[in-house]
Amino acid sequence: MIEKAIEYVRNIFAGDSSGHDFYHTMRVYRLALQIAQEEGADAQAVALAALLHDVDDRKLSSETWEKKDNAVSFLRSNGVSAEQIAHITQIISDVSFSAGRVCTTLEGKCVQDADRLDAIGAIGVARAFAYGGSRGRVMHDPEGKDDSTTIAHFYQKLLLLKERMNTQTGKRLAEQRDAYTRAFLSEFLAEWDTN
Ligand code: ADP
Ligand code: NI
Repeated sequence: MIEKAIEYVRNIFAGDSSGHDFYHTMRVYRLALQIAQEEGADAQAVALAALLHDVDDRKLSSETWEKKDNAVSFLRSNGVSAEQIAHITQIISDVSFSAGRVCTTLEGKCVQDADRLDAIGAIGVARAFAYGGSRGRVMHDPEGKDDSTTIAHFYQKLLLLKERMNTQTGKRLAEQRDAYTRAFLSEFLAEWDTN
């Protein structure tokens, strides 16, 4: 079933250029499994929730977001029990930062940490600019009046993520990525000011 889920998300996200491409899902899947192993979480639920965590994303698929229709129909057609489907869709609902929820399950904590790790570090920086570009956002407003710029997103979200890691493993993995994100930001602002 994991193989099928990988093929399923490959088809959905193959051409994405907004920071949610197929490889984002695969990184979250691998990181989430690594965290799950260290934290003793249910690997099957973590694997499926990680693979399906963006298929009903509010921004990408607003019409299926509420009921997680894509994830549910994939799981149903692969014979997953109703109870396990409820567990997996709960994890997926917990993952999104903007929902502001605290994860209710250990499995949700693992997937959320993995998703957040992919939003920081070199790849996180690249994804933020890809996402900003996809929405027509400007990179930076030196006057600080525009709060929808990609640099503003660093202060609104990226710099906060290390402190919000749920698991010890997530915290450990966030250290280097957070340091890189901060180094990038200071270099960016220093270069901006010299030009
Ligand atoms: P996910 O769906 O993976 O939980 P999001 O959809 O919130 O995460 O964000 C996907 C990527 O786009 C992340 O790398 C995030 O930092 C970036 N992103 C989200 N909102 C913005 C924004 N307003 N400006 C720049 N980047 C953003
Ligand atoms: Ni994601």
